[in-house]
Amino acid sequence: MKNIVLIGFMGTGKSAIGRKLAACLDREFVDTDAEIENITGKTIAKLFACDGEIRFRSEETLMVKKLAKQENLVIATGGGMVLNPENVRLLSQNGVFICLTCKSEVICQRIKNKKSRPLLLKGNLFTRVNELLNERSEAYSIAEYTIDTGSCAIEEAIEQIVNYLQEKDYL
Ligand code: S3P
Repeated sequence: MKNIVLIGFMGTGKSAIGRKLAACLDREFVDTDAEIENITGKTIAKLFACDGEIRFRSEETLMVKKLAKQENLVIATGGGMVLNPENVRLLSQNGVFICLTCKSEVICQRIKNKKSRPLLLKGNLFTRVNELLNERSEAYSIAEYTIDTGSCAIEEAIEQIVNYLQEKDYL
């Protein structure tokens, strides 16, 4: 069975929903950021600070190469994963992309007190989130199904994703 690949901006719920979705489908769950932290022994914030974004992005692609060979996974990607067309190409070979989205107000509310996202530390949070969302809208549009996680509870989001996957015979 194809991997279920959750994409979307920071704070849209990829990790929280991915973990529960995997449990619900009895599949293995992989959070790419958490895996990169395990492999490098550094938090994402520390990896960015010590080694730079380029190193982080190359760790992401190494991770994708590994995951693309597997099946039956639920994968929560980092918000910038789909910016690299090579990552998209690899993951799409054996994966279905589901995008989680929500309004920038909701994203800011969810992440305003967290210091773990290096790309959002500078300047005004709301402005920065909107700027990045605009830059990335095309990248996120590769998903074949998109769900707004700001307007429903986690359980409802999962139900809708499962319904979609069943309809399309992915399960
Ligand atoms: C990033 C999103 C983060 C993490 C890194 C870069 C991005 O993951 O991979 O800080 O470029 O959007 P989350 O989407 O899980 O916050």
